[in-house]
Amino acid sequence: MSEQTIESILHEQRTFPPAANFAANAHIKSMADYKALCDRAAKDPEGFWGELAETELDWFQKWENVLDWQPPVAKWFEGGKTNVSYNCLDRHLTTWRKNKAALIWEGEPGDSRTLTYAQLHREVCQMANVIKQFGVKKGDVVGIYMPMIPEAAIAMLACARIGAVHSVVFGGFSAEALRDRLNAAEAKLVITADGGFRKDKVITLKDQVDKALADDAAPSVENVLVVRRIEKDTHMEEGRDHWWHEVRQGISAHCPAEPMDSEDILFILYTSGSTGKPKGVVHTTAGYNLYAHVTTKWTFDLKDTDIFWCTADVGWITGHSYIVYGPLSNGATTVMYEGVPRPSNPGCFWDVVEQYGVTIFYTAPTAIRAFIKAGDKHPNARDLSSLRILGTVGEPINPKAWMWYYQVIGGERCPVVDTWWQTETGGFMITPLPGATPTKPGSATLPFPGIQADVLDLDGNEIPANQGGYLVVKHPWPGMMRTVYGDFNRFRRSYWEHIAPKDGQYFYFAGDGARKDEDGYFWIMGRVDDVINVSGHRLGTMEIESALVSHPAVAEAAVVGKPDEIKGESIVAFVMLEEDYEAGDDLDKALKQHVVEEIGAIARPGEIRFSDDLPKTRSGKIMRRILRSLAAGEEISGDTSTLQDRSVLDKLRER
Ligand code: WT7
Repeated sequence: MSEQTIESILHEQRTFPPAANFAANAHIKSMADYKALCDRAAKDPEGFWGELAETELDWFQKWENVLDWQPPVAKWFEGGKTNVSYNCLDRHLTTWRKNKAALIWEGEPGDSRTLTYAQLHREVCQMANVIKQFGVKKGDVVGIYMPMIPEAAIAMLACARIGAVHSVVFGGFSAEALRDRLNAAEAKLVITADGGFRKDKVITLKDQVDKALADDAAPSVENVLVVRRIEKDTHMEEGRDHWWHEVRQGISAHCPAEPMDSEDILFILYTSGSTGKPKGVVHTTAGYNLYAHVTTKWTFDLKDTDIFWCTADVGWITGHSYIVYGPLSNGATTVMYEGVPRPSNPGCFWDVVEQYGVTIFYTAPTAIRAFIKAGDKHPNARDLSSLRILGTVGEPINPKAWMWYYQVIGGERCPVVDTWWQTETGGFMITPLPGATPTKPGSATLPFPGIQADVLDLDGNEIPANQGGYLVVKHPWPGMMRTVYGDFNRFRRSYWEHIAPKDGQYFYFAGDGARKDEDGYFWIMGRVDDVINVSGHRLGTMEIESALVSHPAVAEAAVVGKPDEIKGESIVAFVMLEEDYEAGDDLDKALKQHVVEEIGAIARPGEIRFSDDLPKTRSGKIMRRILRSLAAGEEISGDTSTLQDRSVLDKLRER
């Protein structure tokens, strides 16, 4: 966060209580209701979650035990059997929702599709049967590498239906990144498309898959299922690649949902941590389903008449929980949009809101700041009166952007819910409930009922109001990650040992800094580890550094974030070259391109600074704090006594 943002947040005093008529019709109608839920959950967490599991989900077999907590291993609803695809589809078919729109999809070129619950169910069943035909069994991993088309959601639900574990890889990741993720989870099948549309360009996803699989570099992958989207000649490898529109011919649209144990894995989703290798975050069936369901229902005050639009990509947790699983489990209408605002159509989001009468709109601060820059004329030229709730996620939102969102998009009528959560948490952790919580611009406000969040120091002591500390969670919750795929020790180390356990009490460490104000409101201050947040995308600095040093010209690299007006942070790479290479524009370009190929366009450094040296401690550790100050053009403050060679600072500053 920039100094300016911190400054404005520290002095933020405005509060916005929910309007009386909104509160009267909300699921949670007042702070008294909210507090009653929190008290109940604190006194009897198992009773609280057990009751919700009973009323909100359908079960093939009821659980025996709500929670078994052997820190850091949590088991929720053990002995129970359910299926997420069943909860998202089948159970709605016996109600009036059968012919309700489940998914409204708008493609970037302007094509569109609407699938009712009955139609989505048929598609999912058919794809599930096709997946089975490829020999995929319960517990096998399926990689999904898709543009934002309905088949992305269909593929996820089809896997869930038969108990295959999906691992969605964001379509913007490169072939290299895709290959690493497929190999890490030993995926048997990849579901992809020939391509998609993004920013007025065609992206050719299947080419990336071919590259990822070339030379048998991902040997676990036996088959590739390809959805046709762009009508271009596409190479199809005999025996390995299959067109979806061909293989589905004659396949039954009847496929019963497999009864899954509560703790069977639903999906893996890779996310960046503070070391080089991304972590495969594991979510399981029942707890995740319940948590995505309840957080969607209460935080967005979901009603059957709502048209719910989350603008994320299904490649991220936001898309998993709030495009697919949360809304569908609730029987809501979810909107999926393939496009992003682009120079040829900066008002495209508002067109979608107007065209479909979107009532709940959920996006990221980076998008909001880009809208502000594009000008009020775009939203002002559309009818946005259908909107009733606005949401934001991904990074701290500065009060100025919050106010603009509230006034210009929401017409001062829509509560703004700033939702703090993570890939690891499965769903919202700190968020207003729109009919209950008075909001303060820039604050994610208060924990979701049942969540015991706090701000502590490294020894697990509470921090006084308005002082910064580490954001932690003190009690397990159903949507929490269960492990890092294939690396339980990393799970334990990264999340549960950072703050020392105290008297048998374990603290989940989120990786964020935060402060609580005098009203107990949380103000998230950003990552405290080597993770940076570019346009709401989480990137490990070490990952980008490894990508850079894999280029022959680079001897050493250090990557830091620098405050950016639109993106939140931008990537600055300090690079030391091998002897035979010369710094210059060509190499600058080549290195940026190299990172794009190794990771994807989201990791492209905004700036590369060539240097002959890097500031290091006497033990040889790169001092990123100093590099961050240099990148931001700030004075070097704080202690530099551990710096090995102080002349490095002057050299770096000269650039
Ligand atoms: C990190 C998690 C889960 C949603 C998408 C990102 C930051 C997320 C907020 C918010 C301040 C936020 C945190 C967190 N973050 N939401 N409302 N206010 N910061 O998921 O990729 O797992 O990243 O995003 O730093 O740790 P993710």
